Amino acid sequence: MKYAFPDNFWWGSASSALQTEGAREGETTWDDWFAREPNRFHNGVGPQQTSTFYQHWKTDIQLLKQLNHNSFRTSISWARLIPDGIGEVNPDAVDFYNQVIDELNEQGITPFITLFHFDMPMAMQEIGGWENRDVVDAYARYAQICFELFGDRVLHWFTFNEPIVPVEGGYLYDFHYPNVVDFRRAATVAYHTVLAHAKAVQAYRAGHYAGEIGIVLNLTPSYPRSQNPADVKAAHVADLMFNRSFLDPVLRGEYPADQVALLKSYDQLPACKPEDGFLIAEGKIDLLGINYYQPRRVKCRDSAVNPQAPFMPEWFFDSYEMPGRKMNPYRGWEIYAPGIYDILINLRDNYGNPRCFISENGMGVENEQRFIENGQINDQYRIEFISEHLTWLHKGISEGCNCLGYHMWTFIDNWSWCNAYKNRYGFIQLDLETQQRTIKKSGEWFAATALNNSFEKE
Ligand code: BG6
Repeated sequence: MKYAFPDNFWWGSASSALQTEGAREGETTWDDWFAREPNRFHNGVGPQQTSTFYQHWKTDIQLLKQLNHNSFRTSISWARLIPDGIGEVNPDAVDFYNQVIDELNEQGITPFITLFHFDMPMAMQEIGGWENRDVVDAYARYAQICFELFGDRVLHWFTFNEPIVPVEGGYLYDFHYPNVVDFRRAATVAYHTVLAHAKAVQAYRAGHYAGEIGIVLNLTPSYPRSQNPADVKAAHVADLMFNRSFLDPVLRGEYPADQVALLKSYDQLPACKPEDGFLIAEGKIDLLGINYYQPRRVKCRDSAVNPQAPFMPEWFFDSYEMPGRKMNPYRGWEIYAPGIYDILINLRDNYGNPRCFISENGMGVENEQRFIENGQINDQYRIEFISEHLTWLHKGISEGCNCLGYHMWTFIDNWSWCNAYKNRYGFIQLDLETQQRTIKKSGEWFAATALNNSFEKE
């Protein structure tokens, strides 16, 4: 069967500044953390060892062209642009981003730009990071500077990439700096991120720029083990905590009332100011980026909560390992392609069918060298992964969902935070020693799909 996509569908991939650029100027939390605890990073590989986009941006954009991308998302590094977060703008950074943006446009590849992809300037973390409202204001200033510098040529902006991840990693589950485990502080970080987002949207609207502004959220549909009310309730709370805490403010302009009530009853609400509600209402977006990797399966808890243990989302649910689920064993994530369709239908039916696109989807695999045939990685598993997800995406579009494109994570194999180079996601293989780039089979498959705006699958 042939799966054809609407005209002007966005075909591309996503990456981020810190994971690709290298040649770091301006310290981030990752540089600081790596200097102190290199053991936290796979094989002791830190954020300096990336895919050298800072040096190779021009030839890398040629490769994007070869993959028939019509769009590409990357981020601006706040720490590179404004090394101390609040002061002078670094002219070298302005030159670099100007060159990248201009070259993308010249090659017919529409730049999609994220303002914050997990890379807090260290100077901002030292004053409390997202726990401090001064950092919210510093971020709003940074956003405004970016709009002024690049807003004439960048028409698709994203305030944050997966803002729930620094909350989970940094303040609940100990996989990002500053490795705090404290729900109320996590809630404050999440809340201030929403305020920062809204302030950036406000600044964008005030500048009357020609483009649009949105956010990228990692949506993990919550599936209950069964239709037993206890399981259904568990899935609902997980959905509130991990999806709706950002989805509702940016699409509806307010938080779900039952989420606020739940946190209030456990005395976990962040401090709010009376004017915050108006600000949040002004943060409604034009375009939603959806990152989809895995579903969340949950069941009700079988055991009582330890009242001495830190308050956690898991006080309300347990994760559920569905028998027979298909796993990506390298990342430990379930592969469930219909999830992409369920997300789109939920947006269509419950959020007014917003303009959206899949901003990340992907599969990280370890030791891909074992699949080399005639000098090229034959990653058939990735082609299957993409085509399965695309068939469900296609079904969503045919049922009226307003999904405008599909971007893969990622372009060239890049540095994956604490996993460093353990799992590779790219359309293009990176030789870490030589920095040589070689297109994988999946890259060729994607290039053909983008060119034809369609693909065939049985
Ligand atoms: C997304 C992020 O969470 O998934 C990327 O936007 C990240 O930055 C990607 O690299 C894959 O996850 P990971 O943790 O395997 O690198």
